[in-house]
Amino acid sequence: MEESHAHTRPSRPPIVELNDVTVVYPGGHVGLERVSMKIDRGEFIFLVGPTGCGKSTFIKLLLRDLEPASGSVMVAGKDINEMERSKVPMLRRRIGTVFQDFKLLPNRTVYDNVAYALQVTGTPRAEIKRQVPEILRMVGLGAKIHNYPDELSGGEQQRVSVARAFVSHPPLLLADEPTGNLDPETSIGIMQLLYRINRTGTTVVVVTHDREMVDKMRRRVVQLYDGRVIRDQSAGLYTTDESTEEFGVRVSNELGVDFGDHDGDDIGAAL
Ligand SMILES: Nc1ncnc2c1ncn2[C@@H]1O[C@H](COP(=O)(O)OP(=O)(O)O)[C@@H](O)[C@H]1O
Ligand SMILES: [Mg+2]
Repeated sequence: MEESHAHTRPSRPPIVELNDVTVVYPGGHVGLERVSMKIDRGEFIFLVGPTGCGKSTFIKLLLRDLEPASGSVMVAGKDINEMERSKVPMLRRRIGTVFQDFKLLPNRTVYDNVAYALQVTGTPRAEIKRQVPEILRMVGLGAKIHNYPDELSGGEQQRVSVARAFVSHPPLLLADEPTGNLDPETSIGIMQLLYRINRTGTTVVVVTHDREMVDKMRRRVVQLYDGRVIRDQSAGLYTTDESTEEFGVRVSNELGVDFGDHDGDDIGAAL
């Protein structure tokens, strides 16, 4: 009776689906153990748990930096470990990444760091010249476009890295402890940007240690311990229609932090 739903539109596969995934590192350490989980398109999800529980392993798995010992890792309905090696760079270009240490090219300007993400996808030069300033205005760095990374604060460098991750509007953005090196006030700004990016439809996965931020964000939380999922708390309890500005104001109030649009640029105008 496969035809019983013949008139309903087939739903698209989840953006991420792990089926019974185990990762074993050389030497035998188990990085993830029998993890199954689905992440739907458009979700915002936090991945939490103590150091060494497998959070970065999870991120690397989605980028095919690691292959599972068993189980399957599906991205947009495709088993990425069945994919030809030559297709892996294309997979990685479709996934935005943000890391704790920013990973900016030190000898390139802010503009060039972001433009690079478009150059590798063969975006025409005229498009790059239009899109890069626009995305940098969005992250509040319109005035720093010709600066070098070492001329920026940590929070500004992370904004560049968020701009680089998002400039090609990937369906999936992975952030591994993006606020790990930042103070609380700066962290809220970064979270607000990720929130705004999520509101454009991009699925966002954020690894963090910031328990307070996780509580305030009111989004799905997956907790790992020793390579296993020990909690998966959906965001269903919360309303999800808060505007980005409402979000910024509420979270900063609740965290007792003075947060404002003090970069001068119109953050988010492009969105
Ligand atoms: N390249 C590696 N070789 C061996 N063990 C590793 C390697 N990378 C990570 N591990 C181990 O796997 C576990 C999970 O690591 P990781 O995913 O980096 O944790 P987290 O990001 O949650 O702190 C840890 O015990 C870590 O020591
Ligand atoms: Mg880690």
